[in-house]
Amino acid sequence: MQTHVIDHPLVAQKITALRDEQTESPTFRRLVEELVTLLAYEATREVRTQPVVVTTPVADAEGVKLASPKPLVVPILRAGLGMLEGMVRLMPTAEVGFLGMIRDESTLLASTYAERLPDDLSGRQCYVLDPMLATGGTLAAAISFLVARGADHITAICLLAAPEGCARLDRELAELDIPVSVFTAAMDERLDEKGYIVPGLGDAGDRLYGVVG
Ligand code: URA
Repeated sequence: MQTHVIDHPLVAQKITALRDEQTESPTFRRLVEELVTLLAYEATREVRTQPVVVTTPVADAEGVKLASPKPLVVPILRAGLGMLEGMVRLMPTAEVGFLGMIRDESTLLASTYAERLPDDLSGRQCYVLDPMLATGGTLAAAISFLVARGADHITAICLLAAPEGCARLDRELAELDIPVSVFTAAMDERLDEKGYIVPGLGDAGDRLYGVVG
């Protein structure tokens, strides 16, 4: 697995504002969208295209369009949903599927509770949206799920990552013979005893949508 930490002043400025506990949900949501668009610009460097010719007012011009089958964007519910708008703004013709994963807070194990994806993902490039790569359990489970359906190229976009989560992904996905990469705005220090990223930004879902009791 390849991990890319995006080094750009605008990315650093936006992730700093996201971390700030004073940043309220409406601003937090807008910043997440903007940040995802910036990360997606880097993360889509290998998106598959096919040649196309368009006619300008002056002459024909050779160009490209997104190849078929279209890339599939997969936000992990619930917090990944806050990243969707920023992603599809950059790639409006991508298709979108949904994967609901929940983490048991005592065991920290991830399981699937909802899924709306094509049955056959053969030959598909998938872009998984998950804001916090913490223990790596959710992302490892989501990627394994997509690969089992036939996806042959996986890119995860995460706002923040922890070294423990990256190490787990490396271990659990070592057997996969397809390219898997992670793009993130920052690699933080560590996880705390509850599996939260330190310094992190707290619970991404709660900060996006408020606390659900
Ligand atoms: N999920 C979050 O929302 N925040 C963390 O720090 C870890 C997992």
